[in-house]
Amino acid sequence: MSKTRILTGITTTGTPHLGNYVGAIRPAVAASRDDNVESYYFMADYHALIKCDDPARIARSRLEIAATWLACGLDPDKVYFYRQSDIPEIPELTWLLTCVTAKGLMNRAHAYKASVDANTAAGEDPDAGITMGLYSYPILMAADILMFNAHKVPVGRDQIQHIEMARDVAARFNHLFGAGRDYFVLPEVVIEESVATLPGLDGRKMSKSYDNTIPLFEGGTKKLKESIARIVTDSRLPGEPKDPDSTALMPIFAAVASHAETVEFRTALLDGLGWGEAKQRLFERLERDIAPMRAKYEELIAQPARIEEILQAGAARARSIAAPFLAELREAVGLRSFVVPVQKIHPDSVPPGEFGSHAAFGMPAGAVAVVEKSSGGFGTPAIAADKKSARPQFKQYREADGKFYFKLLDADGRLLLQSDGYASPKDAGQSIASLRAAASLNGAGGVYVLGPGIVAADVEQALAALAQ
Ligand code: TRP
Repeated sequence: MSKTRILTGITTTGTPHLGNYVGAIRPAVAASRDDNVESYYFMADYHALIKCDDPARIARSRLEIAATWLACGLDPDKVYFYRQSDIPEIPELTWLLTCVTAKGLMNRAHAYKASVDANTAAGEDPDAGITMGLYSYPILMAADILMFNAHKVPVGRDQIQHIEMARDVAARFNHLFGAGRDYFVLPEVVIEESVATLPGLDGRKMSKSYDNTIPLFEGGTKKLKESIARIVTDSRLPGEPKDPDSTALMPIFAAVASHAETVEFRTALLDGLGWGEAKQRLFERLERDIAPMRAKYEELIAQPARIEEILQAGAARARSIAAPFLAELREAVGLRSFVVPVQKIHPDSVPPGEFGSHAAFGMPAGAVAVVEKSSGGFGTPAIAADKKSARPQFKQYREADGKFYFKLLDADGRLLLQSDGYASPKDAGQSIASLRAAASLNGAGGVYVLGPGIVAADVEQALAALAQ
């Protein structure tokens, strides 16, 4: 059974704080250790450009966020961890999706509507200061998700609408171009009810927009201690009972501590623990968890080349999925090569003589071979003279559809010939044998009918290569 694919993006603006750690990073890292899932975590740095036009901040933030996730235990060998901007297939898919997305759907996006409302309220032009980036934001996000056909997308509540839009766009594409095949999985939103939203220094939700955050690593131990000292408390003196339910200290403590520790802390407050002492205990408990991760973070951030290497490797892995999928999508919408002449002809229209030669190839009905020029466009010889010793090779493999395929690669690994699916490895093997036989008999010249449905004149090249 194939694994559930979970994907989420991290917008790279700002510096991670304790609320991000408890609400997003820690649960994601924990989920990524489940062997039944395949996780994709990426830095949504194209999305960051929509919100921020300060290059230095963009550059700094993505480095800090990458280092933070790694320091918090994300294993880049176990998950797909990459920067959105390292995957050129994503903006390309964004365009394919843009062309099937109704403008009216984008008009309804909350973020866009909120900006329009704010402009209207201020008596400005409704679209003042609104970029096409902001307007099309949900399409880029849909491409992030659909590129890897994620099943589940864990996000905050403010993102639910974007996932719904991704489903709409996916369904529309499937409908228009699927021809019986669903290219895209319809993603499902996952809202983690159990994950705490942490209060900030002033008791409101911890958020950089309220300027009430406790930084996770930034500023080190000293800054952590200072931030905790600034948590708002009432004026009760040491010895007076405190109300554990009306102080931000309590939920912040509970977010990192065990149940037993939390009960103990609560009891101490009820028993009159002084605020200063309570803050010291909170600091120590947080520091116990954070210090080892901070050490790792500092080590990483001092070696940006190491992080770069990890992310490049992550991008390469992600692209090994994205690139072939995008090739199929391009094909689906009609962006097809001219150099690969694939002429569909109905089997009935093939003259009997030609069919005879096809039958001699031993290809079972339904098999189709497509031939691709090796490189260099028209008239380039497929095999250079000095490549004589390195022979082209057949590779046989089985695809997810359960069928058996082969391809012929030249000495440089370029594709000369690609088969369609066969019901059994024996059928595929017979076709290979027939091709070899044809190569030794015919060499170059003539048109070969390789299957009911396709004439591929360039099979000559493949046969010539084989005949060498
Ligand atoms: N828009 C998301 C946020 O602000 C980040 C994001 C970008 C994302 N692409 C995504 C989340 C794809 C999930 C899936 O939180």
